Order: sequence, then structure tokens, then C-alpha cells
Amino acid sequence: MRLLSARLIVSLVVGVTVVSLCTSYYQVLMLKRGLRRDLQHRAEVLAESLGRNVERDLERDAQSALDRTVQHFANREHLLGLAVYDPQAKPIAVTTSLAALMSTAPGVVGQSLTAGQGADAFLKLGGDPVHIYALPLHRGDEVIGSLAIVHDAGYIHAESLRIWRETFLSALAHVFLIVLITLLIVRWSIAGPIARTAHWMQALRTGRAASARIKPPDMELFRPLAREVATFAESLNTARTAAQIEARLRETSESIWTADRLAVHVRDRLEDGRLFVVSNREPYSHVRRGKTIEVSVPPSGLVTALEPVLRACDGTWVAHGSGDADLETVDRHDRLMVPPDDPRYTLRRVWLSKEEEAGYYYGFANEGLWPLCHIAHTRPIFRAADWKYYREVNQKFADAMVEEMENVARPLVLVQDYHFALLPRIIKQSRPDARVAIFWHIPWPNPEAFRICPWQAELVDGLLGADLIGFHIQAHCTNFLQTVDRIVESRINWEHFSVQRLDHQTAVRPFPISVEFIDDPAQPPPQSAYEERATLLKAHGVEALHMGVGVDRIDYTKGILERFLAVERFLEKYPKYQRNFTFVQIGAPSRTHIKRYHDLQAEVEEEADRINWRFQTDNWKPIILLNRQHSHQEIAPYYRAADLCLVTSLHDGMNLVAKEYVATRRDELGVLILSCFTGAARELQDALQVNPYDIDQTAEAIRTAMEMPPEEKQLRMQRMRKLVREHNVYRWAGNLIAELCAVRLDAAQNGVEKFRAGASVG
Ligand code: G6P
Repeated sequence: MRLLSARLIVSLVVGVTVVSLCTSYYQVLMLKRGLRRDLQHRAEVLAESLGRNVERDLERDAQSALDRTVQHFANREHLLGLAVYDPQAKPIAVTTSLAALMSTAPGVVGQSLTAGQGADAFLKLGGDPVHIYALPLHRGDEVIGSLAIVHDAGYIHAESLRIWRETFLSALAHVFLIVLITLLIVRWSIAGPIARTAHWMQALRTGRAASARIKPPDMELFRPLAREVATFAESLNTARTAAQIEARLRETSESIWTADRLAVHVRDRLEDGRLFVVSNREPYSHVRRGKTIEVSVPPSGLVTALEPVLRACDGTWVAHGSGDADLETVDRHDRLMVPPDDPRYTLRRVWLSKEEEAGYYYGFANEGLWPLCHIAHTRPIFRAADWKYYREVNQKFADAMVEEMENVARPLVLVQDYHFALLPRIIKQSRPDARVAIFWHIPWPNPEAFRICPWQAELVDGLLGADLIGFHIQAHCTNFLQTVDRIVESRINWEHFSVQRLDHQTAVRPFPISVEFIDDPAQPPPQSAYEERATLLKAHGVEALHMGVGVDRIDYTKGILERFLAVERFLEKYPKYQRNFTFVQIGAPSRTHIKRYHDLQAEVEEEADRINWRFQTDNWKPIILLNRQHSHQEIAPYYRAADLCLVTSLHDGMNLVAKEYVATRRDELGVLILSCFTGAARELQDALQVNPYDIDQTAEAIRTAMEMPPEEKQLRMQRMRKLVREHNVYRWAGNLIAELCAVRLDAAQNGVEKFRAGASVG
């Protein structure tokens, strides 16, 4: 750093000095020229104005008048004096002070007499610099003498010296300032950040960064470098954490799934195969905000669950490109590497027209299948036109998928959710050697409910193209097998939970999905929930001692209105909590082009307003509705600070909010109130389970949560955390993939041979 500073300073000093010298040289040159020109002009003017009189005096031979004149114009403002010469250049009258020096006429006098016109010169007189202007004197055309005007030119030299002196002083001041500023910049913007970064990297290397709470430095000047270093540091940290966890696991012989373990597990099973995931919702969409493009992560449980899996195992994720800047961010094959700041796997985007999106996604999937599978008393709508688009879009995704799988031997395909019931069969027809699983992220209703769908047989047949069908819980598997039993020709093996149809066997299994459980021993101890709560509420202009939280997409299956009613009932029944308890609902607007969702959005807002109006005071209100999509980072502080989390779904496949809340509560406090109609309720037995339709029961659960002794809270939370830690999303993916890899592809061998021979299979 010293060498850099010295080099910078020397270069700047030399540069500044050279520039100052050149500028000054030019200035002095210009000044000299100006002053000389001025002097010449003055001498000319004076000579012209005296010339007439001197000519007259010469004509009259008036010696005394000439003497008076030359004495009169002596020693005035640089004018040293005058001298009058006859045509032979002999002095006639000379100013006394110049008499000795001008007794012999200077050359210019002779020049003026010979040429008959004015001549001038800068020369030395008695060692001093002077300017002499000689004007010939006439009588008619005859030259009768010459008048010499002598000026002192020494002041021109003095002026030049002054300029050089000033330049030197100003260059000195500049150099001093530049050196000072350079040293400060080097210290503040380069040496300081580099020293802090080195300190931070050293802390990372030695593993002290998290425990000592050493924050990454702000390397403003080196932003691109900083980004890389931050990513590098993060990877290092993750690797260290993973290694520590692995070491701890080996120590305690616990069997906990980690991202690394999943990656090894999948690589071992896939051998040279590759993992493919297809879902409607993409994990990252690019959206335009003014002139910039931003990356957005959608509020989807499915994305939350699958993203860590893909990060861990590489592979390709095929999904609908729904962001308005998605097209601009893909390559010519519609692919890009994600996550954008740390690329780990490929995202292949599929484009849908407005009509396709309306028919397949809004129509068939979300107005038909979604309410059909959720018993939430919203009537499903089935339109033939939507069904047509559903089939076409399934085919479109299958084509993209088959394209991605080209030249990949032993592909492993994980199809996601109710948007793609037909996809397993279509993929299998093209690639019988692919192992295909579909995971149904929502409940599967009983056969009576499912019968409503006019295309129930086609849907079930499409699904049975898969080698493995996964649901969250056993009850959904049972419902599905009963549905198959009623609808299509098949043989069901109730003992092994599998279906045999047209030579193809499909296993049906429960795989309770979960979240990533980050258990980093190096993390600093959790902050006090109480303090964090006060800060969060204050940001919304509310003061309250206690806080509850709910996090959902605004969906009629989530029981948000029922939850608000329970909060109202609680405050009504236990007025001591008025002005003391605030419920924060984080609600991400969802599927708002569907009328039911659009209306619900308004209903939720109205209900919050109504309850707030009823109870609110100047600095308190019972419900804060945060009506926009929030990132995981934004939600986490609310989870950490809340006394309780309310999950009141009317029906839910699993509900990952419940598990996220538990995973976030490192302080082992906080109470989970959980609807018994969620898949999560089967596992999280230590939650306070409620029937969300029973408003009084939920209100009572809120009171129980608020008044639960800390030891009980801790015990319940510890047990739930143990469960989520052990049954995390990596285990879910590991089990699903292991089960799929174990599938025997007997019937498909034929297809494998065809694939290897390069023939396309219809
Ligand atoms: C549920 C579904 C997911 C879906 C998510 C968000 O969790 O199972 O497939 O992605 O809701 O809904 P959206 O329609 O916005 O994708």
C-alpha cells in the first residue's frame, strides 16, 4: 500500500508540476508580449504627440525650447527621458540623466534617419533594459533629425518574475493538497476497506465471522469484486457449516439430511443421469421496474421446497416464464443459469400465450382442480375450453422437457403438482427409460368429490403414466387409490400401495414435504423477540406488547377471514389484550385475475378495517395487514418476534408456513396454532391444533398461547424443531428420489433399447 501511495503521489506531483510550468511559461510569454506591445504603443503615441513641437523648435533653431522639452519629459512612469539628434545622429538635446548614455546615438536612431520612418528596439543602456523609439523629424520632405523616446523596460522583467513566483507558490499549494487528498482517499477508500476485508476474510477463514458477528465490509469502490468475494465467502461459510454439521452428525450418529448429503445421495443414484424438475411456477422471474430488471422469487411453497434441492443437485428446472422481462434474460434455447447471484442449475422457460395461460392456469388448474381438491366450499368450474388448453399446455411442457432430456441417459423427472396431471403419461410415451414421479402438492379429495370433474378418467390416466405418485400424507394416497379404483380399469395392490394399469406399475407413497432447517452452530444467539417486536410494530405506527403473525397467499383455502374473526373474538372475550396484542397478517396477493381471489382480496381488507375500526386507539390497532409479497428475509423477523403464529387453513396439503415458523424459532419460544385440516397437523402434534371454522376455539387457542408458561412453550417448540430438523426438505427430496430410483423399469426396457438405438419413440 505504501508503494502504491508513493507511486500515486510521485505521478501526481510530477504531473501537476509539469502542467503548472507549461501554463506559467505560456502566461509569462503572453504577459511579456502584451507589456512590450503596450510600451511600444505608448512610445509611439508620445513621439507622435511631441514630434510636431520638436520639428518646429528645430526649424526655429530654438535650443532652449528643445532643452526644456527633453528635461520636462524625464522620469515619468517608466519614461526615462528624450533625446533629439541632428541628421548626422549627433545629439542636440538630451535629458540630463541620459546625457552620458545617449551621447552616442543608439542604432535605432540611425535606422530612423536612414529609413525616414519610426524604428524601435529593446536593448541595454548602461546595463539596464530599456526601450527606445526613434521618430524621424521632417521639414517638408527633408529629414532634419530624430527624436528618441527612452523607456525603462525593467518592469517587464520584474512582472515576469512575479508570475513565476506566484506559479511556484500555487503549484506548491496544489501539490500539498493533492498529496493530502490522495493519502486520505487511499486510506479511506482503498487501504481501509481492504484492511477490513482482509480482517473479515481472515475471520471467515478461521470461522470466527459469524460467532464474532463480523459483518462483511462495505467495499463500495470495488463493488464487482465485493460481490464475488461475498459469494465466495458465503460458499465458504456454507461449506464450513455443512462440514461442522456433518461432523456433529457423525459424532452423534444422528441421521439428518443436509444439502451436501442430498447432493451425494442423488449423484450416487443418478450415476451419469440427470435430474429434471417441471413446475408451472418458476423459481426466479425477471420483472421490469422502471428502467431496471429485478429478480423476483414467487410466494410458492413448492418453490420454497424445491429450490434447495436443485441447488444441491444441479439439474434442469422447466417452468412457465411468467415475468415481463423473462424473455430478455434467457439464451437462444430459452435457458439461463440460476440463482442469478450464484448459478447452480439450469432454468428452462416455456412461453404461454394469454389464452393458454387463461385456459390452462387460471381456468382448469385454479378454477377447476384447485377448489376440487380443497374442501373449502368454493365450487369448482370446469369449462371444455379450459380443458383443451390444459391438454395443449401439458403437451407443450412435455415437448420442452423431452428436448431438455435429449442425449441424457437415465433421466430422473420430478413433475410438480396439479398443473401437470397429464405430463407423466406423455413423457413416458416419448422416453420410457425416464423415471418419472409426480408430486401432488395439494390434497387429493375422496372419490365422491373427485367425481365432479368431467375429465376425471383422463386425469387419473395421465397420472398413472408416472412410476411414482407422491402425496403429503397417507390419507391423500388412500383417497387417490380409491379414486383410481372407481374410475379406471386397473389392479390395485393395497398392501404395497401401487396400481397396475396396462403393463405399467405406479407406486403411490406419502412424502411429507418440509423446509430447509438451518442449524448453524456459528450463528449468533437470537436477539430478544420482545425488542424485535417493538421495532417491527413501531414501523407500522403501533405500540403493543404482544404480537401474532400469519403469512399466506391471499387464498380462500387459507382461512384468513376465520383467523381475523378469531382475533376479534379473542379481544372481545379477553379485553385486557386490547391495546396489548396486535396480529400481523402478511398476505401476498395471488391469482388476482380470478374473480373469487379478486373478491377475497377486498373481503380480507374490509374485514381487517372493520375489526380495526371497532377496537383501534391512537397508537394501537388489532390487525396490521401487509398486503404485498414479502421475501423470506423480510418475513423472518416477524416469525422471530411473534408470540404466536396462526395457520388456519380450511384445507391444506401440507402448509410450509407452519414448518418455517418452527424452523425460525431458534429461541425455542413462540407458539404455533395450527389448523387440523393441514397436512402439517399430522406431524406437528405439539402445535395448538384448532378447527378454523370454530371461531371460539381458535380465540381460546390464542389465549392459551398467550398465557402458556415459558417452560411449556419451550418444550413444545423443542419437540417440533426436532421433528422439522430431522424431517427437512432434503430428506423429503432424498426419499422421493431414492424411491423413484428404486423403481424397476421392466416394462420400459423395450423403450430403453429403442432410445439407445436412436429411434424416436412415439
Ligand atoms: C400452492 C401450489 C403450488 C403453487 C403455489 C402458489 O402451493 O401447490 O403449485 O405454485 O400454491 O400458487 P401460484 O398459482 O401463484 O403458483
